[in-house]
Parts: sequence; structure tokens; C-alpha cells
Amino acid sequence: MCADGPGTADWYRNFGMFDAPESSPCYAEWSVGIANDPELIRRIEQWPHNKRQPLLMLAAARFLGARISPYPAFSEFLYDHWAEISRIVLARATQTNEAGRCATLLPSLAAIADVTGKPLALLEVGASAGLGLFPDRYAYEYQGAAGITRLLPGPEEPPPPMLRCTIEGPVPVPAALPEVVWRAGIDLNPLDIANPDDVAWLEALIWPEQEFRRERLRQAIAIAQQQPPLLVAGDLNEQLVHLAASAPADATLVVFHSAVMAYLTSAERERFRQAINALAVSRGCQWLSNEGHTVIQQADGSSVVPEMNPERLRGRFLLLHNGQPVAIAGPHGQSLQWL
Ligand SMILES: C[S@@+](CC[C@H](N)C(=O)[O-])C[C@H]1O[C@@H](n2cnc3c(N)ncnc32)[C@H](O)[C@@H]1O
Repeated sequence: MCADGPGTADWYRNFGMFDAPESSPCYAEWSVGIANDPELIRRIEQWPHNKRQPLLMLAAARFLGARISPYPAFSEFLYDHWAEISRIVLARATQTNEAGRCATLLPSLAAIADVTGKPLALLEVGASAGLGLFPDRYAYEYQGAAGITRLLPGPEEPPPPMLRCTIEGPVPVPAALPEVVWRAGIDLNPLDIANPDDVAWLEALIWPEQEFRRERLRQAIAIAQQQPPLLVAGDLNEQLVHLAASAPADATLVVFHSAVMAYLTSAERERFRQAINALAVSRGCQWLSNEGHTVIQQADGSSVVPEMNPERLRGRFLLLHNGQPVAIAGPHGQSLQWL
């Protein structure tokens, strides 16, 4: 252990033993291999603390061409390419953009459009490349006890990704896709889907064996490339109010985010919540939050869902509408359990 938390080797070992195996046997083996190599751990510890996370360094290796292989071949790759890996790790961040999360947001988005009787103006904070801004342009397949419901956008060229989501409980699966008339995002570092390096980085962030997610990413990028969204570079707290002011007044403004709040301090999250409250009062803004444990645990140590067994939430996201829990979601949009 070191002063600022568990040691780097523990971090890689835990990632390899507990986080990775279900999604990526290859990352599981590689991470444990790294944890057992003191020289690699020493090199990783030359990087700033926020750059040492396993996913970032593994994605950097993949970006540079590391293929699925047994650990000894990967270890050789790491030693051969260390200078380049360092360069990528220091220049990049984990900015996975998962279009699949639209499947867990869609029922709430459609309900908002129904209730307000207006089309939607979407503003995503922490938007990465902005692929979450096209929920009306993707295809969906919701599978529950009552069977399968499919939702398709109008005839599209190129074909939309099919977002498959298993549902439980009274999920309000809509009969049609909501109309979106404006889309904009904020990110500290927006990724550019017209830039081949950024696209290659988005692909490298997907775990090696998850080819279906890479295919989904490519299809979502092709959709977004037809009508690239407005992406503003900057801190979400600095940009939100200004950008929200350019949303059309005759549409319902929905501010949403997925997998972003973990990057903010609790003071920054509080500032964001206050801005959302002010937008709710001034222009009827609706707020959807799709996040992991950082939003479940409040600054005072209490939980926004105190009645819920933490085991039920482990490894999953909580979907909140205007601060009220509505569903537990698979982290990549693969499941939705209505509360
Ligand atoms: C894990 S990615 C998730 C991207 C996207 N929301 C999704 O679900 O696919 C988190 C994104 O939040 C952005 N981010 C983190 N802190 C931010 C801040 N303070 N202001 C704006 N963007 C931020 C990061 O740059 C990154 O692109």
C-alpha cells in the first residue's frame, strides 16, 4: 500500500481478478501479469496517479496495435513499445463513448416528450464524441417477460446500430421514437468523429473481445457523421448555462449525463445540481442522470436510495429523473430494471 491508496500492483491485480474476467479474459490475464511484474509497476508509477489506471494503459497498448494474446507476448509488446505507450497514456484519457446507453435513456426521453407535448432539445454533459446525442436515430430491441419490442428510426442511410436491452418491471417502452430538434454536448476534451486518431482511440477503449460494441460504435459514428452535433470544449459547470440558453425555446430541454459524475468532486457535483435546479425553474429543464455509485453516495455519506440493497446496484448504474431514482441500468445500456 502507498499513502494515496492501494498500491498500483493491487490496482492491476484487482482489476484483473474482479473487474475484467466477465467482459475480457484477455484484460484479466494481462492485468494480473502486469501486477506480478515489478519492473512494469515501477514504470507505471512514473506516471501521475490519475494516469495509472489499468483501462487507460491497456487501451494505449491496444491503440498501438496490441492483439489478443497470452500474457508473455503482451509483456514483450509492452517492453518494445514503452515510450509510445507512455506518450499515449499522458496525452489521452478514458473517454469511452457508449451509444448503447441510449437504450436505457430512451424510455425516459420519450415519456418527457409525451408529457410536455414538445420535441426535445438534448444537452449532454461529458459527451465525449457526442454519440449519446442521437437516441432518435438508433434502432432498439427491448426484450422482457412480455416479449420483444422493436423500435426503428425512419429509413436511414447508413444502417443504425441495433441497441439490445433486456427489461424487467414496468419499463415504459415507447411506441415511437421521440422527435429531437436540437443536440449539443459539453466535454473537457470533445473527441472528433472526423479525426481518424480520435476514432481509433474510441475503438481502443472497447475491451478486446467485445467486437459487437466496436461494430455498434462504428455504426453510431456513421450516423453522427451525417449531422455532427455541436460539441463545446470546457468544464460542464462553466459551459452549461450558456449552452442551454441556445436551445430552442419551443422544445423541452433535457440535460443528461452517463458515466461522468465520477470525474467531479462532490463540490462540483453540488454546483452542477444547483445549475440544473435553476434551469428547471427558468425554462422547465428536465434532468436525466445515468451514473454509478458516485451519485448514489451523497457528500454526507447517505445514499439517494437508502432502501436499496447495495448488492443490487453493484456494477450497475442508477437512472434518476429530476433527482428521483427510476431504474437500475446495465452500464453499457444492456439492461433496464424499472423501480
Ligand atoms: C466515461 S466518458 C462517458 C462519455 C459519455 N457520457 C458516454 O456515456 O458514452 C466521461 C466523459 O466525461 C468527460 N468529463 C469529465 N469531467 C468533465 C467535466 N468536468 N466537464 C466536462 N466533461 C467532463 C470526459 O472528458 C469524458 O469524455
